[in-house]
Amino acid sequence: MKKLIIINGPNLNLLGKREPGIYGSLTFEEFFKTIKKKYIDVELDYFQSNVEGELINKMHDVGFSYDGIILNAAAYTHTSVGMGDAVKAIETPVVEVHISNTFGREAFRHQSYISPNAKGVILGFGLQSYELAIQSFL
Ligand code: DQA
Repeated sequence: MKKLIIINGPNLNLLGKREPGIYGSLTFEEFFKTIKKKYIDVELDYFQSNVEGELINKMHDVGFSYDGIILNAAAYTHTSVGMGDAVKAIETPVVEVHISNTFGREAFRHQSYISPNAKGVILGFGLQSYELAIQSFL
């Protein structure tokens, strides 16, 4: 059984309430319940934090034993050398995910510290981006 984890960065705990025009009106917990049911042959975990160091600690915790990490580092994507280094430091492949099409938004969102070391990048498909990332590991 494949062991995957979704790691969500800052402000993604507010999905459903936060800028629904961009991020949709479903909470992540609701969405996660649906995909857990759909992918019963996958051991699927979920972690969210607004704290950069906690996200890095989590990557270290899972990064030598899990089969895949689905990472939406949110705003830290565009700012965090530390998160980029963490992706490089671990063994588990990381698929970078974004709900919105970051390339259709402000210029500062076009830069990613995660992409250079990610296995792949999926963005712009709403919450379905996460599902496509799961499928990429199967
Ligand atoms: C995001 C895009 C980021 O630019 C933004 O800071 C987020 C969410 C996305 O999923 O579309 O918080 O990662």
